Amino acid sequence: MKPGDTITVCAESLSRHGDGVAQHEGREVHVAGLLPGETGEVKLDYVSRQRMRAHGTVIERRNAHPGRRQAPCRHHGRCNGCAVMDMDVASQRELKVAQLSKRHGFEVDRIVATDDDGLHYRWSVKRVFAGKPGALVLGSFMRGTHNVADMEGCLVDHPDIIAACDELLTVANDAGAAAYDELDESGDLRYAWFKTDGRGNVLVAIVTADPLATMAHGIAERLERPAGIAWGVHSGRGNDMRGVTIRPLRGRQTLAIELCGELVHIGPQGFLQPNPTTAALAYHDLVRVPAGGFPHGRVALDLYAGAGITTNLLRERFEVVVPCESYPESARALGIKAELVEEFLAPILADPHHPHRSPDLVIANPPRGGLGADVCNQLNALAAPRLHIMSCSPASLHEDLQHLTGDDGAYKLIAMRAFDTLPQTAHIELVAWLVGKG
Ligand SMILES: C[S@@+](CC[C@H](N)C(=O)[O-])C[C@H]1O[C@@H](n2cnc3c(N)ncnc32)[C@H](O)[C@@H]1O
Repeated sequence: MKPGDTITVCAESLSRHGDGVAQHEGREVHVAGLLPGETGEVKLDYVSRQRMRAHGTVIERRNAHPGRRQAPCRHHGRCNGCAVMDMDVASQRELKVAQLSKRHGFEVDRIVATDDDGLHYRWSVKRVFAGKPGALVLGSFMRGTHNVADMEGCLVDHPDIIAACDELLTVANDAGAAAYDELDESGDLRYAWFKTDGRGNVLVAIVTADPLATMAHGIAERLERPAGIAWGVHSGRGNDMRGVTIRPLRGRQTLAIELCGELVHIGPQGFLQPNPTTAALAYHDLVRVPAGGFPHGRVALDLYAGAGITTNLLRERFEVVVPCESYPESARALGIKAELVEEFLAPILADPHHPHRSPDLVIANPPRGGLGADVCNQLNALAAPRLHIMSCSPASLHEDLQHLTGDDGAYKLIAMRAFDTLPQTAHIELVAWLVGKG
């Protein structure tokens, strides 16, 4: 097999990027544009020498998945954001559940979703500036490239965010501002990060490459839609925006967002679930047992607490709820010191008389990479009677469960539920309920 070859394959499953995955001559072939169950002629674009993997593009499809449809978005194909948009939403959900079982051996009791069309659900959006002065666009990097796909009028964005994006572009184009170019490291406007409270209030953080000769101030003065505007400078390489220091430019710097009846205040860089409406259903279930009742007890630990929604929910039921969060802005809002979970658990485990040594419930909602072996080992040592995990990555959850429920693990898995927080994409959010083996 070599690049340029044409092969015929049948996709058996879906990759996490939404490509069809087929087997051919002992290799995994990832095919853009082929859905599971579809067979097609595929042109190979890349064949890895190190790994038994190849990537290709479908040239001709022999059959169509019963849920296949014309993707409703005009950017589909260039923008890689909504990888399964060429399937109706019911089929997307069916496929996600089947994938969990096939790829990870996870059996969920159900998939929870809030809507049928799966559009306009995103309350938190990061965009990259690109294009020539006067004709700037806001979009996202096309997978594996430095090219930016325009996302004007993105169908999964909340309407508040679409309007704020449009206004920012109009003002930046009128001002003749230049987009930052990653390759030659020239230009000014780099990213814009939008958040909405779903009620018309938008917070926008404009990130520029240039700390001095930036147009961010002039642009901010002319924006009328955002309730608050912040500015940060990111002159280095890479796209991680969390290290960027954000300064207020104008208006309010936090949004008050109500989730599960709890009000949380989120700043320009604080963690906000992209789809808070569906995520709220996951939080609701995370603090309960699978059948819907509340676990009993006095002490609960809330690991990776973020803005503290689950902390507040747990406080309605537990006398003592101790959150842990490493991001300074979120930790400050929680009234705790910013701390890694590893550092937080170490002194608790070291002291048998520590007041939090025997929690009745531990909640963990780690980022994409999961808990990792060290935290799993600490949780095994803690041996709580209940451990509830929320995860946005089935792959990392799978690894964590090996540590937590394997021979050396202190827990057993009793149930798992899926939440379709990101319709049109291959992503899925999971809640896993574990109880102590003891
Ligand atoms: C998936 S978010 C969940 C946040 C919150 N539970 C929610 O749903 O809004 C993960 C959170 O963990 C924090 N975090 C990441 N790594 C961490 C670590 N090693 N220790 C503590 N917090 C961490 C991040 O800052 C982020 O707020």
